[in-house]
Amino acid sequence: MSKVDATARAEVRRRRTFAIISHPDAGKTTLTEKLLLFGGAIQMAGAVRARKAARHAVSDWMKMEQERGISVTTSVMSFEYPIPGIPADAPDIERLANVNLLDTPGHADFGEDTYRVLTAVDSALMVIDGAKGVESRTEKLIEICRMRDTPVITFVNKFDRECLAPLELLDEIEDKLGIPCVPWTWPIGMGKRFKGVYHLVDQQLHLFKPSDKAGEDNLELSEGIPVSGIDDPRIDELLGDQADDLREDIELLEGAGAEFDREAFLAGKQTPLLFGSAMNNFGVRELLRTFVSLAPPPQQREAIVGKAAIEPPKPGDPVETRMIAAVDPEFSGFVFKIQANMDPNHRDRMAFMRICSGKFARGMKAHHVRLGRDVGMSNALAFLARSRELVEEAWPGDIIGVPNHGTIKIGDSFSGGSKLRYTGIPSFAPELFRRVLLKTPLKAKALAKGLRQLSEEGAIQVFKPLLGATWVVGAVGQLQLEVMKHRLLDEYSVEAAYEHVDFTTTRWVTPNLEGYAKQDLDKVMSNFKRKCEENLYVDGHDDLVYLAPNKWNMIKTEERFPELRFEATREHS
Ligand code: G4P
Repeated sequence: MSKVDATARAEVRRRRTFAIISHPDAGKTTLTEKLLLFGGAIQMAGAVRARKAARHAVSDWMKMEQERGISVTTSVMSFEYPIPGIPADAPDIERLANVNLLDTPGHADFGEDTYRVLTAVDSALMVIDGAKGVESRTEKLIEICRMRDTPVITFVNKFDRECLAPLELLDEIEDKLGIPCVPWTWPIGMGKRFKGVYHLVDQQLHLFKPSDKAGEDNLELSEGIPVSGIDDPRIDELLGDQADDLREDIELLEGAGAEFDREAFLAGKQTPLLFGSAMNNFGVRELLRTFVSLAPPPQQREAIVGKAAIEPPKPGDPVETRMIAAVDPEFSGFVFKIQANMDPNHRDRMAFMRICSGKFARGMKAHHVRLGRDVGMSNALAFLARSRELVEEAWPGDIIGVPNHGTIKIGDSFSGGSKLRYTGIPSFAPELFRRVLLKTPLKAKALAKGLRQLSEEGAIQVFKPLLGATWVVGAVGQLQLEVMKHRLLDEYSVEAAYEHVDFTTTRWVTPNLEGYAKQDLDKVMSNFKRKCEENLYVDGHDDLVYLAPNKWNMIKTEERFPELRFEATREHS
C-alpha cells in the first residue's frame, strides 16, 4: 500500500460526520454546545444559544440571517476528540477522531433543509426529552434516517427533572420509532433523586452532582467509579437504598436480552441508549466517547455513472449505478445546501459540499459534472472551530464551502473527471401555495431571477404553468413563505402580492416505464397534458408537476392515468 493510500485510509477512518435530530426543546442546542465545549471547539457556553435565541421570532430570524456569516460558521462545526482505546502516544491521525457536526435548522418549517442535511451525514444523534418521550418531529426525522439506514445513537436528556420511567421510555422508542434500544448507560433515579448513571458497558458508576454551576462551563467532571458488576457492595455504599432499584432495572433489562449487534447498529436497526442532563454537562462526555467509538466513518455511497449522470435518461434507457468507496482515490462530492447572498453587495453564494471520496487539496480543480467542465476551487472554505478559513486539504466526510455566483445547485456532484452523480437528495411536495402577482410588470425579470435563485438554494419551490405566465411558489411551511417575501423585496427589490391558491398537494409526473411501451406512453403523456392543462406546471428543474386542488382530485387523476407515475418526492438532478 502506498503512503498516500495509508494516509487516505487513516483520514477516512477517523472522520465522524453527524447531525443532531430532535423535537424542538428537547435540548439540541444545549447538547450541541456541550459537545463543542468537550471537543474544545468553543470556550464558552452561550455561543450556539445566542444564535438560537435570535430565531424565535421571524423578524429576528431575518435580521440574523442577514448576518449570514454567523450562520455559515455554525452550519458545520468541526473538532477533534480522542478515540477511546487508542494509546495516548499514538500519532494524532490514529488517536484523534475528526468530528464534523452538521447543524440542522431549528424551526420545523425548514424540514426540507433538515432532510437534505441528513443526506450528508454518516450517523445521527437523537435527543429525547426524558419527560416527554418520543415526540412528533423526532418520528419524522427518524423516518428520514431509516430511508438511508443511517445509524442512530440516542441520548435521553433532562434526567435532573422528573421524567418518564426509563423502561417506559425504552418501550416508547421501540414502539414509536421501531428501533430496538441497547442501553449503554442506565439512570439511577431522576429529578431530585437523580444519582447518576450506571455505565453498563464499562461497568462504572458515574455520580451526578447537581451542579450549582449548571449551564456554566464546568467541565471538571469526575471519572467513573469502576465496580466489579452490579452486585458489587460499593454500589450499596454509594447509592444507598437506590442500589436495589438499579439492580431490579438491570435484571429486567438483562431479561429483555437486547445485545449490542454492531451490524444492526450500522444498518440503523438498533440504537445505543444513553441518559443524562445536557444542561448539567452530565452524561455528555460518556455520550461523546461512545459516539466517537461507535459511529461509523464515511461509507461507500451510490452514484449514477455514465451518461445518465448528466442528463435525465430517456424512457427505457438503462441507468448504471456504482458504489463509490470513501477511499476511492478519485475526488468526489455533492452539494446538499446552498446559502445565497451572504453579502448582499456581492451576490455571492456558498455551496456546501460533502466530500465522498478522494482528497481535496487547495488549488486543485474539480469536475462540475452537470456542466461538464472543470472549475477552480482555490477559494473553498473549511469550517473549523469558530472561524471560516481557506481549506488546505479535506477528506471524505468533511464539508467544504464553495463560493460561486449561481453555477452550483443543490444536488450537483463534483468529481476528478468521471461522470457521476450522487443519488438521494430529495425535494418534498410543498403544501402551501401562493400565486405571485407583481406590483409592477417591469420587475418580471428580477422576479424570475429571484425565484430561480431561491429555488436553486432550496429555500422554496417554484412552478411555472404550462398555460399562462404567473408563477406559483410552494413551501412546506409558513415561515418559508415569509422568508421568501422578505428576501424578494430586500435582495431583488420585487414588490408583489401573494395570492392564496387552492392547491393542496403536488406530484411529480413521469411515465411509468414498467409494463408500458414507449410509443403508448408518449400518447398518454400528450393526452394527459391536454386534459389536465390547468393543473400542470414545470418546477425549477423543468420537471413536470401536477398541482392538485384536493386529495380527491389527486386520487382520481392518478386512477385515470395508471400509465403515469405520480411521486410525492423528487430527487434533485
Ligand atoms: P432545542 O435546541 O432542542 O430546542 O432545546 P434547547 O437546548 O434550547 O433546550 C430547551 C430547554 O430545555 C431550555 O430551557 C434548556 O435550558 C432546557 N434544557 C436543556 N437541557 C436540559 C437538561 O438537561 N435539564 C433541564 N432541566 N433542562 C434542560 P429554556 O427555559 O427554554 O431556555 P433557557 O432559559 O434555559 O435558556
